[in-house]
Amino acid sequence: MQSGQKHLVETRFRETIGLYGFSEIVSPTFEHTELFLRSTGLTTDIITKQIYQFIDKGGRDITLRPEGTPGIVRAVLQYNIKLPVRLFYIGQMFRYERPQKGRYREFFQLGVEAVGEPGPDIDVEIIEMGSRFFTNLGLKDVITKVNSVGCPICRPKHRTELSLFLERNNDKICNDCKERAARNPLRIFDCKETSCQELYQNAPKIADYLCFDCQQHFQSVLNELVERKIPFELNKLMVRGLDYYTRTAFEFVSSSSDLGAQDSLGGGGRYDNLVEDFGGPKTPAIGFALGIERIMLALGAPVQVRKAVYIIPLDPSIQKQGKELLNLLRNANIPALINNPDKNLRAGLGIADNLACEYVIIIGSEEVKKQIYTVKNLVKRTQQEVPQDQIINSLTKKNQS
Ligand code: HAM
Repeated sequence: MQSGQKHLVETRFRETIGLYGFSEIVSPTFEHTELFLRSTGLTTDIITKQIYQFIDKGGRDITLRPEGTPGIVRAVLQYNIKLPVRLFYIGQMFRYERPQKGRYREFFQLGVEAVGEPGPDIDVEIIEMGSRFFTNLGLKDVITKVNSVGCPICRPKHRTELSLFLERNNDKICNDCKERAARNPLRIFDCKETSCQELYQNAPKIADYLCFDCQQHFQSVLNELVERKIPFELNKLMVRGLDYYTRTAFEFVSSSSDLGAQDSLGGGGRYDNLVEDFGGPKTPAIGFALGIERIMLALGAPVQVRKAVYIIPLDPSIQKQGKELLNLLRNANIPALINNPDKNLRAGLGIADNLACEYVIIIGSEEVKKQIYTVKNLVKRTQQEVPQDQIINSLTKKNQS
């Protein structure tokens, strides 16, 4: 992974969510397995197929976190964090999936969780924040898909209708979906089989079975998105692959051809019952997580940010002057490196290029005598004579331009 580009993604993320008052939380990479079984959901692909689960030396049943939300909710309850609270995290997640481009067994997520706010205002803010982050990153081709997955009041009627639909079409659905139909019919919408996806276009959709309160909530979210001119696409087939969601659900999808099938850059939604399911008081909550590797793929090849100056003293006797210049540059916050005395000019230029330095300053005895240095720009392939006392000024100006 190009960690420079990862750093850029994280920096833009911190800048964007900082505008909305989120503060960082660091939570463990592993938790008791029970935590994920009770939240992510027993019928989800993540739990049935993808968790890295093991028994530790103390006999505890442990799982490497496949996602961040359950650990954050646990921490909010365990440490009695005052609500409402807006938290974010950046870290590794682990899923035993079939690896391919954009899908890895260990990957990084940027996540946010707003616990204690009922919405619908925060739903819109969170969706807007995600879109703003992608815009700030310079990613234009990101579509925000929005849906409502209702609540335990609206679901039974939908579940009955969906089960009847699946029974009628039992011969047309894949084996995985047959299993999903028996355990949790809503999960059929996660199926990646083209024939199933085509069939489910005509299946009963949860958004058409919402109870009055969920309907009101969803309509307010949609109205506000339109009012605030936040681009989105209503997608009734999008249900998200985790069990804890209630009401608003959304996904940020890239249309970049670099991502292929793994086009979901991130997603999230409300989970108004999770805190209660963990033994806490009834507490509304909403969040999302974004996949860093997929965002990097969508960004394309990283643009090399060349900045550093590489100093090449031509003679070991000039190493001292070279080190003085090195110190001067670093004191002025200009990244700088010096060539090792056992490497000649040619080797030094090669190293400067490998290290993606922008400038090379070659110092010979003449330069020391005249106090004028030759500054080579490796990107523009130009060079300039600069008096020693103007070198900082000259490089600072160049880096600003
Ligand atoms: P998720 O949809 O499972 O949601 O994952 C969010 C994002 O993580 C995906 O859209 C994708 O970009 C990235 N991702 C997932 N699996 C992989 C993988 N195997 N390799 C690379 N990237 C991957 C959640 O995790 C929820 N916890 C989001 C959330 C937060 N909902 C509420 N709060």
